[in-house]
Amino acid sequence: MNEAMYNGLLERRSIRSFKPEQITDEELALVLKAGTYAPTAKGAQSPIIIAVQNPEEVAAVNALNARFGPGQNPYYGAPTVLLVLVPAGGYLGDLDGAAVLTNLCNAAYAVGLGACWINRPQFMFETNEGRDMLKRWGVEGAWRGVGSVALGYPAAEAPAARPRKENYCYIVK
Ligand SMILES: Cc1cc2nc3c(=O)[nH]c(=O)nc-3n(C[C@H](O)[C@H](O)[C@H](O)COP(=O)(O)O)c2cc1C
Repeated sequence: MNEAMYNGLLERRSIRSFKPEQITDEELALVLKAGTYAPTAKGAQSPIIIAVQNPEEVAAVNALNARFGPGQNPYYGAPTVLLVLVPAGGYLGDLDGAAVLTNLCNAAYAVGLGACWINRPQFMFETNEGRDMLKRWGVEGAWRGVGSVALGYPAAEAPAARPRKENYCYIVK
């Protein structure tokens, strides 16, 4: 049994407080690589991952996300934002994107970074501002947002995991 990997899956928690320093290029590359190894339907590798690190662009992503949610600081000050998108109208794209997001979050924990899955890219990239961002970043084509990740060095311990609900699993023998 690969205990380190198994324990990592149980220990990973969402981090919602980040140091301002940027992560290293090596750390980013490790996290992104793990994202690209997520399972995808038919092995099609349909998603793309956009890592936003330019502070002005990170601020623009924060502002656009905040338009659709309750808080003004949806990425909690993280210096890196990972956006996962899939081809508009593609086959099982949201599920592929969710698999990528899961790998990104688990990899961030393995690398010693803090990460939190952040919702609302599905709305962000339906707007003209969102589409303009993609163009500005050199991303051609029609894409649908699936989710995103706030990524950086954790500035606080994560709270313990809540107890798992009863009857989460059924075993049929
Ligand atoms: C689909 C999805 C959307 C989420 N969106 C947000 C979000 O917008 N903001 C946030 O702070 N956390 C978000 N989370 C993180 C969850 O709140 C978090 O995983 C949950 O509270 C359990 O905590 P844990 O990740 O530490 O186990 C999201 C998680 C998932 C899977």
